[in-house]
Parts: sequence; structure tokens; C-alpha cells
Amino acid sequence: MSFMVVSLACGASPSPPGGQDKPFLSAWPSAVVPQGGHVTLWCHYRRGFNNFTNFTLCKDDRSHVPTFHGRIFQESFLMGPVTQAHAGTYRCRGSYPHSPTEWSALSEPLAIRVTGVHKKPSLLALPGPLVKSGEMVTLQCSSDTVFEHFFLQSEGTFEEPLHLVGELHGGGSQANYSINSTMSTLPGTYRCYGSVTHSPYVVSSP
Ligand SMILES: *[C@@H]1O[C@H](CO)[C@@H](O)[C@H](O)[C@H]1NC(C)=O
Ligand SMILES: *[C@@H]1O[C@H](CO)[C@@H](O)[C@H](O)[C@H]1NC(C)=O
Ligand SMILES: *[C@@H]1O[C@H](CO)[C@@H](O)[C@H](O)[C@H]1NC(C)=O
Repeated sequence: MSFMVVSLACGASPSPPGGQDKPFLSAWPSAVVPQGGHVTLWCHYRRGFNNFTNFTLCKDDRSHVPTFHGRIFQESFLMGPVTQAHAGTYRCRGSYPHSPTEWSALSEPLAIRVTGVHKKPSLLALPGPLVKSGEMVTLQCSSDTVFEHFFLQSEGTFEEPLHLVGELHGGGSQANYSINSTMSTLPGTYRCYGSVTHSPYVVSSP
């Protein structure tokens, strides 16, 4: 066997001889990256577990990202300066240390969102940012740009941003995120982003 067995496309490939566990692709400091910024990618055995020493990356839309075509990364990959072309979903395969020519299954996709492309929306807490336990709070993201998608992100967490479809509102667009304050993860700082249908991972300034 040689490295030629590695399928660099994200499409169907023969089931790998290695483990059945899907690896997990992670991004630091965040999967939401400003245009011109950098992001480091790791491929882990499982969420939170050790990372693969050697791994490959592919992008679901197969758009041209020349920096990693056919490359094997060791430990991590520092991607950047990031452009709109980097926005999209990525997957990884890792090679097993006991058998370096054996590659894992493809990971679940990780969405890399590139910010700063459209004008920033505004974010408001209704009725206000001080919320009584058990009550609902609405985080309202609005823009005078017509965004088909809105994403709400809690700062400092690695959770996937909450997605809502934007609704037309007063010449622009809006989305209301209703959150029950009993959610232990509610307290914190939030930012929202907007994007348009033809490039949902290319998002506004926060
Ligand atoms: C990683 O790949 C290199 C060749 O690119 C190889 O020499 C090395 O043994 C691999 N390491 C592991 C842990 O698979
Ligand atoms: C919020 O969640 C708690 C616990 O699940 C529930 O008891 C409460 O009724 C919810 N509040 C609202 C306004 O839905
Ligand atoms: C969001 O909530 C506000 C206040 O309840 C309401 O006026 C507005 O129409 C809602 N917007 C959408 C898009 O649902």
C-alpha cells in the first residue's frame, strides 16, 4: 500500500480498513474566522481525544483551495490568510500510528465561516439583557441588508452557531432567537452574523 490510497475528495470512497469511529475536525481559536485571519485545524480520534499525527483535509464543495491539495498534514494545519474561497465545510481523515498507510473514515463536516464580507447586523436582547430565571429572552438580529441566513454565536464556546432563516423586515431582514433562560449555557456574550443563500459560509462582520 502507498499514500495513493488516500481519497482526497470528500465524496464516496471505499470503506476504510481502519476503525469505524469517525474522527472529529476542530478549529482554534474559532471556526468563525475574519477575512485575512488564520485558523488552526486538528483532526482528532474522537471529540476531545488525541489528535492524529498525520491527516488529510478535503472541502465538500471541491472548490479550489490549492494550499492543501494532496497534502498530508502533521499535527495541525495553520490555514490563512483566509479569503472567501476558504469558507465552506471541511472533513479530515487521519492515519493510524500503528499502521501509517491505513486511513480513518471521513470526519463529520466542520463549517468554516469567513466574516467581514457584508456589513454587520445589530443584536438586541428583548425585553432586555437581564433575564429572570425561567423567563424567555429573545435575541433579535437585524440588518438593513437582506440576509437569508443568520447565525448566533456565544463567545468563547466551540458550539456550532445557531442558524435561523432570515425574514424580510422593514426593507432589511431579521431573525428572533427565543431562548429559555433555564439553559445553563445562556449567560454570556453573543454575536450574530448574516449571510446570503449563494454563499452561506461567507458571513457579515459580527
Ligand atoms: C506521518 O507521515 C510521514 C510521511 O509523510 C511518515 O514518515 C510518518 O511515519 C507518519 N507518522 C505517523 C505517526 O503516521
Ligand atoms: C423554561 O424551561 C423550564 C425547564 O425546562 C420550564 O419549566 C419553563 O416553563 C420554561 N419557560 C418557558 C417560558 O417556556
Ligand atoms: C421579532 O420579534 C419582534 C418583537 O416581538 C417582532 O416585532 C418581529 O416582527 C419579530 N421578527 C420576526 C422576523 O419574527
